[in-house]
Amino acid sequence: MDRMNLNLVVGDTPIRNEAVSVYRARAALRAALEGPRRDRRTIGLVPTMGFLHEGHLSLLRAARAECDLVVMSLFVNPAQFGPGEDLDRYPRDEERDLWLAGDAGADVVYAPPVAEVYPDGFATAVAVSGQLTEVLDGDPARRSPAHFRGVTTVVAKLFNLVGPDVAYFGQKDAQQAAVIRRMAADLDFPVRIEVLPIVREADGLAMSSRNAYLEPADRERAVALSRALITVEREARSATLQAGLEAGRHELAAAGIEPEYLEARDAERLDPVAELGDRPVLVALATQIGAARLIDNVLIQP
Ligand code: PAF
Repeated sequence: MDRMNLNLVVGDTPIRNEAVSVYRARAALRAALEGPRRDRRTIGLVPTMGFLHEGHLSLLRAARAECDLVVMSLFVNPAQFGPGEDLDRYPRDEERDLWLAGDAGADVVYAPPVAEVYPDGFATAVAVSGQLTEVLDGDPARRSPAHFRGVTTVVAKLFNLVGPDVAYFGQKDAQQAAVIRRMAADLDFPVRIEVLPIVREADGLAMSSRNAYLEPADRERAVALSRALITVEREARSATLQAGLEAGRHELAAAGIEPEYLEARDAERLDPVAELGDRPVLVALATQIGAARLIDNVLIQP
């Protein structure tokens, strides 16, 4: 374990001096959590792949407000990247992440090397089957179910290792959140899954570590994503869902953006929906803008 005393300024924000304990090995993390667990202290887990932004920090702050001990994992999980995806260039800045995590309330950061998570001979996967992992990003022509298999495998391992009372995820990855809820319920993990709202830049762009890939001109165009989703919701409420989707596509086309998908689905089951009804509807969008594949969504409440 490295115990760190931290002092940093990020942008204009002075970061409070904090101590965060960093573990690289499963056994050490398990040992560190034994005491708190024995003392019945509640544990909150915030799984991340690092390069933290306000979205992650909102999860950490929520965990800090609700739990006695806040554990953040920091692991760029190779199992959820397909061939040709951005594993090698995924942005990383561990030092800055540790500062920010400590300031937002993390007590413990688990930042293992790949061989600690997937040691030689590793041969197990946790997969949610069916529609939840086969549509939207799960479509075999897109990231495919293998992406979600990578996510559920690593998240199941983290649940086993940390034994959290509550685990925090962002609504920006709405499909991932639905898949993780299913996995936790199906495998009887005694954990409450909290999904917190998307955090956006002042102009509406959903925060994402991958926004770092955007060149200035692409960054400007990317604002059309949130604008399109606002349009979809407005038109869906005032006219029909189909009219909303059509108007959203026009908004994207006007910015020269061809979506991989812009679809309306039941927010929990991900069945396609044709009109608003008495259940929340997820309108989800994915597109490539310059070097970044971006996703965004809006949840239309009944
Ligand atoms: O959302 C992410 O950052 C990742 O998919 C997660 C949940 C940390 C698993 O690697």
